[in-house]
Amino acid sequence: MPNNIFTPQWRPKVHFTPQKNWMNDPNGLVFYNGQYHLFYQYNPHGNDWGNMNWGHASSTDLINWQHHPIAIEMDVAGLGYIYSGSAVVDFNNTSGLQQGEDPPLVAIFTHTQAGCETQRQSLAFSTDGGLSWQQYKNNPVIDNPGLLDFRDPKVFWHTPSQHWILVLTAGHQINFYRSENLFNWQYISSFGEDDGCHGGEWECPDLFELRTKDGEKKWVLLVSLVPGGPNGGNGTQYFVGDFDGQTFAPEHKDVRWLDYGPDNYAGVTWDGKQKLDNRRTLVAWMSNWIYAADMPTFPWRGAMCLPRDLSLIKHNQSFFVSNQPAKEIDDNLITFAKHSQTATDVNCELPTDSALDIKVSAEVNQGDKLYIRFSNSDGEVVELKYLPDHQKVVVDRSRAGWQYKLWRTPRLEADTTTSEGLINCRLVLDASSLEVFWQDGTTTMTICLLPTSAFNKIELASSQLGTKCLELSRIRHQSATD
Ligand code: FRU
Repeated sequence: MPNNIFTPQWRPKVHFTPQKNWMNDPNGLVFYNGQYHLFYQYNPHGNDWGNMNWGHASSTDLINWQHHPIAIEMDVAGLGYIYSGSAVVDFNNTSGLQQGEDPPLVAIFTHTQAGCETQRQSLAFSTDGGLSWQQYKNNPVIDNPGLLDFRDPKVFWHTPSQHWILVLTAGHQINFYRSENLFNWQYISSFGEDDGCHGGEWECPDLFELRTKDGEKKWVLLVSLVPGGPNGGNGTQYFVGDFDGQTFAPEHKDVRWLDYGPDNYAGVTWDGKQKLDNRRTLVAWMSNWIYAADMPTFPWRGAMCLPRDLSLIKHNQSFFVSNQPAKEIDDNLITFAKHSQTATDVNCELPTDSALDIKVSAEVNQGDKLYIRFSNSDGEVVELKYLPDHQKVVVDRSRAGWQYKLWRTPRLEADTTTSEGLINCRLVLDASSLEVFWQDGTTTMTICLLPTSAFNKIELASSQLGTKCLELSRIRHQSATD
């Protein structure tokens, strides 16, 4: 299919997409003055990767987005493309950049010259609360130490040491730097050469503290990598451990995945929100470098996954990260149906004018199989199967649209910590995606789909008779961008 045919049927209703052209990673996630700012890797000139700038949108509810002009522009004759990075609110004006009432917002990103790829870290700032941005005249602020891969800085204020901390990928490891004013950075340590999965390039790190319901605290380091993800192509691994302002010490050797789906990459979290309600909210690019350039959506290419609230959970004396749709999604659910069956399967029609939030709970026994199937009037099906004996969730998208050849790995698998008993699952279905939040979000999968027509039926079935419950909600949104 040529990629210049309009595809409004695949335009997500509640997932962020640019109005037109190419988008990849989320950048500069910062919350200020009631607004979530979302910047993103953007090519204003076409539907393919290239000419990287920071696109910009903002939202108060993480569902409805206002599009803004390009925030940080590349300069081919100067320091080059604007690659991924982060942004912070400099509340104490440590940078001295404040001009009016608003504290300065400071963005830190990678400058790279197309073709000769010298990756260096630079600053841009906003003195009007995030609407307009200017680049610092003495960029870069961190020069390249002779590495090909040296990018994607994420900055945060580390209260105990009263310093800014910056993490970035440096070859196959993460480098840590510290600063008092966001301009002068001192290298302090590295992590990861012998840790985690090294199936591909490390990219887009993030470091933050999370706490359990009981108040136990741990530091979490996110590292995206490509290839090497659990279902082919990209994936995001996380490390749980301690950070003392200088070094990161993980407390496990096994590889842990933030999301098992193929379409969740470069996820990072919003800065500036934790002070208000202690939430750590993440958004990721919903695609895969293996096939992103072939996605037949038009006039845009690239979407973000649903924003998620991360939490720390303790299981068998070890700490894990779970993710659930952000609280703003819960605040916008309109529940319209509830079904509960013991003796038979559950079958129902789905409306196709909204994105849907579907909550499933079911009693499963050993040897049982649980199926959740979505189908449409074109005979296409996407099937989720839970195998308690193997503690696996398997999603098959090979019959979910004629574009199945695009997917390379049509059968997707995720490990769970659940076995038999009462299981729960939350599914978010939008025009061209399905997100699975298994057992309170302890296992998640983000999956792109390209069905010929919208899925309008759901079936919940099991091989043995157990209670099965389904709760269906629309996610309230204003009309989509088209
Ligand atoms: C991750 C990534 C980053 C880089 C950006 C370029 O998807 O490769 O490492 O900064 O995309 O668009």
